[in-house]
Amino acid sequence: MLDINKIRNDFPILNQKVYGKQLIYLDNGATTQKPNQVIDYVSEFYSTINSNIHRGVHSLSGKSTEEYENARLTIKDYINANSEKEIIFTKGTTEAINLVASSFGEEYINEGDEILVSQTEHHSNIVPWQMLCKRKKAILKVVPVNNNTEIVIEEFKKLLSNKTKLIAISQVSNAFGTIMPINNIIQKAHKVGAYVLVDGAQGVQHFKTDVQYLDCDFYTFSGHKIYAETGIGVLYGKEELLNKMPPYQGGGDMIKTVSFEKTEYADLPLKFEAGTSNYVGAASIAKAIDYINSIGLDNIYEYENDLVNYARKELTKIKGLKIIGSPTNNTSSISFLLNGIHHYDAGMILDKLGIAVRTGTHCAEPAMKRFDITGTIRASFSFYNTKQEVDELCKGILRVKKMFD
Ligand code: ALA
Repeated sequence: MLDINKIRNDFPILNQKVYGKQLIYLDNGATTQKPNQVIDYVSEFYSTINSNIHRGVHSLSGKSTEEYENARLTIKDYINANSEKEIIFTKGTTEAINLVASSFGEEYINEGDEILVSQTEHHSNIVPWQMLCKRKKAILKVVPVNNNTEIVIEEFKKLLSNKTKLIAISQVSNAFGTIMPINNIIQKAHKVGAYVLVDGAQGVQHFKTDVQYLDCDFYTFSGHKIYAETGIGVLYGKEELLNKMPPYQGGGDMIKTVSFEKTEYADLPLKFEAGTSNYVGAASIAKAIDYINSIGLDNIYEYENDLVNYARKELTKIKGLKIIGSPTNNTSSISFLLNGIHHYDAGMILDKLGIAVRTGTHCAEPAMKRFDITGTIRASFSFYNTKQEVDELCKGILRVKKMFD
């Protein structure tokens, strides 16, 4: 069991009122709140050791660099990468996917090649591939999902061929919380020689991810969704692949030597880290991981799973409330509709009751189109949420319904 009171005390933002009501933060899919352990660390970093990394011979630069490179090691261990050279810092998941689309795409994608994405991907795992396909005259194909928001494996198998070069798939759907069968997908993809990018933005903070066990070729996630800073994220790539890919951006830090005749690029991982990166943000990810590890990822998974199951059960009791999909494997998020009430109206009234949920398309318009809807109300959970908060959400929804009846 988690000591929820202790955990909640670590997150100062949770202890406040919105419109005079105790805040109930259920928008963790959009961003997670930060524990004091991360906030204090960032403040301490700027107060005591801030200096640009990899650039100075002076003490502060050495200390900043050490924090940055140690963070890379912590992340390597957290996702069980083979080497720290495989951990590239980016601005976030979106930039990580764009990096792969640009750089891997340049080297590996040719006219007529096919790229597969699922029907419920986030826009950031659709648009970069559309842009790549346009550039290279490649073809983007869409793997359908069933009414439960689950990938239809039979359809996936039909779309997979030796023309398939890459499959880009989320580990967990941001819109519906569906856990995708990425093990199965990766194994099948590799059999036809295709590579797989897993968007882990909604997975990495909820359960153990082992990139070597999964054998995915790329894995991406964002700092701000794993209790760390925003503007920082991670691209994991297999060393052999990253070595063959051209740099994404040119600039300082990604070179060995520069002359007007010839520029030599730096080795991994710096080859992909042009310019001054958000080194404080990168180090904050390591602090957030330390925090997660102090609670235990397995404990977090168990607690959140129980909480989300409870929420599903309680929400289902509300007349006129329809949950989109009941996937067998799900975590963290529940998307639902209220009969005859627009999701924005519901979201605004819930906000007046102190309850923060996300409404709209969740940056997944094709997923909404699949279900013939304009958007949903999404409650997304973290280990600092409680069953009492779920009860308050249900009461809030009943108030919304009453106002509209
Ligand atoms: N991708 C984030 C979400 O699902 C912003 O809300």
